[in-house]
Amino acid sequence: MVAEHAAPILVASNRGPVSYKRREDGSLAAGRGGGGLVSGLSAIGTGAGALWVCSALGEGDREAVRRTGGRLDPADTGGMSVRMLDIAPEVFTAAYNGIANSVLWFVHHLLYQTPLEPDFDADFRAQWAAYEAYNAAFADALAEEAAPGAAVLVQDYHLTLVPGLLRERRPDLRVGHFSHTPWAPPDYFRMLPDDVAEQVLRGVLGSDRAAFLTRRWAEAFAACCADVLGAEIVRGDGPDGALSVRFEGRTTRLGVHGLGADAAFLRERAHRADVEERMAALREQIGPDRKTIVRVDRTELSKNIVRGLRAYRRLLEDRPQWRGKVVHVAFAYPSRQDLAVYRDYTAEVERVAQEINSTFGTADWLPVVLHVKDDFARSLAAYRLADVALVNPIRDGMNLVAKEVPVVSDRGCVLVLSREAGAFAELGEDAITVNPFDVEATARALHEGLLMEPAERAERTERLASAATALPPARWFLDQLRALEG
Ligand code: G6P
Repeated sequence: MVAEHAAPILVASNRGPVSYKRREDGSLAAGRGGGGLVSGLSAIGTGAGALWVCSALGEGDREAVRRTGGRLDPADTGGMSVRMLDIAPEVFTAAYNGIANSVLWFVHHLLYQTPLEPDFDADFRAQWAAYEAYNAAFADALAEEAAPGAAVLVQDYHLTLVPGLLRERRPDLRVGHFSHTPWAPPDYFRMLPDDVAEQVLRGVLGSDRAAFLTRRWAEAFAACCADVLGAEIVRGDGPDGALSVRFEGRTTRLGVHGLGADAAFLRERAHRADVEERMAALREQIGPDRKTIVRVDRTELSKNIVRGLRAYRRLLEDRPQWRGKVVHVAFAYPSRQDLAVYRDYTAEVERVAQEINSTFGTADWLPVVLHVKDDFARSLAAYRLADVALVNPIRDGMNLVAKEVPVVSDRGCVLVLSREAGAFAELGEDAITVNPFDVEATARALHEGLLMEPAERAERTERLASAATALPPARWFLDQLRALEG
């Protein structure tokens, strides 16, 4: 049944634009989400008829759903219409932690390695059933809310089955799917149980248009469709020619939209008083006349923080001239702490940072300044101060830090960038490129970055900033919508 106030444009994502915490007095505090995804999807706007469907993530959210019936108060959402789904906690946890953040995240980021190899056993099957139920709950809600012929933009690896399920329920809709992660190459993707691999691909192919952050991930998806499903790949002319996948009589167009940084927002935000205060505090911690290497990440295995720290240690070992002259400011914000492998990684980051400090630190020099409490204002302060930004993920859909730093940098900043980050496709020419597994080469890149002449640094930063802002979040969203409607 289609709802009374059916929506012509819908977005579906696991995490919505707002989340709730219960205060001591029992009332609910609404917090707005940050980051490129939320600001991009927020371009759905407050106009009549646009609707964002997301999941309740914790107890505060569930309470908000109980109190509102799922239609959040526009006062909490910046005026956007948001329907939050209260999916049973055990289903949500198995789908989100078990399948999305363990299995699918690990597959697309190529993170499985001994001893982290997957065991697809009875636990996995139960989690997979939860993932199906979780996806079905989204498909049901979208089918109910969408106006005839509406455009639905489904986001990410949490919701790969939604396009296919939605097509069964509502063949009149135009459905897009967007992957914010890399896509695994076929040899790796086939690690998934055969029926699951097929189901994921069929799910995404249920869309009219499946889009990715870079051409590389779109090609990997196409290769998986050919390899696992025997689908036909149709290519337009030239290396960037349009790609589409033909399978069982339907065609899914593939698209590429490289989400960029929001220059206007970042520049304004980075010059507020709270950022200036944090710059002063950081300068104090760094000490006078020292260079600064900055990194800002969620503490997440794909971000390769430990190897980054090892590269810094290598720099101090091999090039003693830097001892006392450089500080590595590392912000590693805890993420997905319900999962043991993320908790262990967080502990490892702290251990290696401490080890460097106890090996090299002196009475007036702390080689690594590690902060683990998420603070966006402090991140911006570090971006503005950085001489070198280290972005060395093993694999990353895009990496917005690489795009944000050049936009707000005060004096120009050298970007040391992994060639395995999606952002490399747009920023590679003006960054110092590294193979993220090569600790020694990363140490050399840091050295080179620290030595770069101010004029060259400034010129490169200017070009990086212009490439990084080519597709700001609002246009990223509207381009997808237009491409789906076209
Ligand atoms: C990163 C990824 C996104 C993903 C998000 C989920 O930002 O690039 O693809 O949707 O993490 O994070 P969460 O904290 O919701 O698990």
